[in-house]
Amino acid sequence: TERPIGIDDLSFSTTHYRLDQDVLASRLGVDAAKLHTGLGQDAFSVPATDEDIVTMAATAAQPIIARHGPERIRTILFATETGVDQSKAAGLYVHGLLGLPATCRVVELKQACYSATAALQFATALIARDPGQQVLVLASDIAKYQLGSEGEPTQGAAAAAMLVTADPAVLRIDPCSGVYSEDISDFWRPNYRTEAVVDGKLSIDAYKRATREAFADYQRRGGRYLDQFAAFCYHQPFTKMAYKAHRHLLEHAGTPGPDGDSRTTTDASDSATDAADLDAALAATTHYNRAIGNSYTASAYLALASLLDHRKDLADQPIAVISYGSGAVAEFFGGTVVPGYRDHLRTTANAHAIARRQPIDYQHYQRLHHESDLTDDADRKIEQQTTAPYRLAAIADHQRIYEATI
Ligand code: CAA
Repeated sequence: TERPIGIDDLSFSTTHYRLDQDVLASRLGVDAAKLHTGLGQDAFSVPATDEDIVTMAATAAQPIIARHGPERIRTILFATETGVDQSKAAGLYVHGLLGLPATCRVVELKQACYSATAALQFATALIARDPGQQVLVLASDIAKYQLGSEGEPTQGAAAAAMLVTADPAVLRIDPCSGVYSEDISDFWRPNYRTEAVVDGKLSIDAYKRATREAFADYQRRGGRYLDQFAAFCYHQPFTKMAYKAHRHLLEHAGTPGPDGDSRTTTDASDSATDAADLDAALAATTHYNRAIGNSYTASAYLALASLLDHRKDLADQPIAVISYGSGAVAEFFGGTVVPGYRDHLRTTANAHAIARRQPIDYQHYQRLHHESDLTDDADRKIEQQTTAPYRLAAIADHQRIYEATI
């Protein structure tokens, strides 16, 4: 029998600052309940000027390297849509900061919020060839929209780091997965912009359709039925989106399974609108994203971390991950939580990463928002703000200079 492959360790980091949605609500003159209940967001992470996707990714990966050592890592896959360079992979800075082996391939992957899932699937294929190696998957992003735009309350920032191995301690990834792609302009960021362009309503519809189609593909390929999963870890641009998408899936997942049985259709009518069922499937996955905001590629994996940290009963349970990246690509895959998984979680560190952020007022947030528009064509030194272990220290001769702070 083949050895299982999947996530052996999962860690995340976020930023030094946070903006509470209440601050934004009073500034925008909108009802705070729209943001807390309507979008399902309480706050979002705001990077200090010496934080970026590299410092967040290094901070997320550092405890994984401390626990497992760097020796067996032969590949680093860095997923992001907040790239800091058009040529050099951001993972190389992390490789240097963490002292990872020279006998390692390092690349960056892009497809909006989806590419960490591609990275995870590529990692499983590499390990199937050589089960002795480990792959470090990094997903790091900063969600930034224009001040005063509809998207502003759905900003955020975080990095997830995952060690992918044979005989994983946390999640065995099933070989079966479903995918869907379509060329659509629901959300994108042209090279000359630091902020995304988005058609919010179109993006929500595109997300729902892509989820439904990816699941239909999954079922045609012999995947599990919806009611067999203990929980669903959705990409969460705002946590309410997971509820919208899951309700849509329950209502439309009528594609017959390989044996012609379409159990999901008949069950759907009973449960689709049942809020308690939706909560049972989703609530535990939303705690981190509700506090951090959209972290694009990292979001679905923060949902996974939240689920594992908040549910004690998942040993041997199948769970689903649903990844959506505008543009658009979606993937639906399942996995089984490994018995003993709780001994490998980082629950305390995760709570700390969220609680330690400094709340800022609107003026401070606005200043940071403007400063993050600066480009790298002028040399500058950057004062230390973050208390994270790595920071961006300067721009010199068009190079980004990172340093360890401890
Ligand atoms: N109390 C409670 N709820 C309230 C309320 C109140 N006082 N006032 C409004 N609401 C509810 C609304 O009813 C609505 O809920 P439903 O969708 O369930 O009807 C919710 O609050 C949001 O209200 P609006 O639809 O009016 O919100 P909006 O038009 O201002 O913007 C948005 C919402 C389109 C998501 C916008 O924030 C946006 O464009 N965000 C960026 C794009 C995005 O996140 N898209 C998600 C899918 S694409 C993707 O997933 C990729 C990615 O990461 C970007």
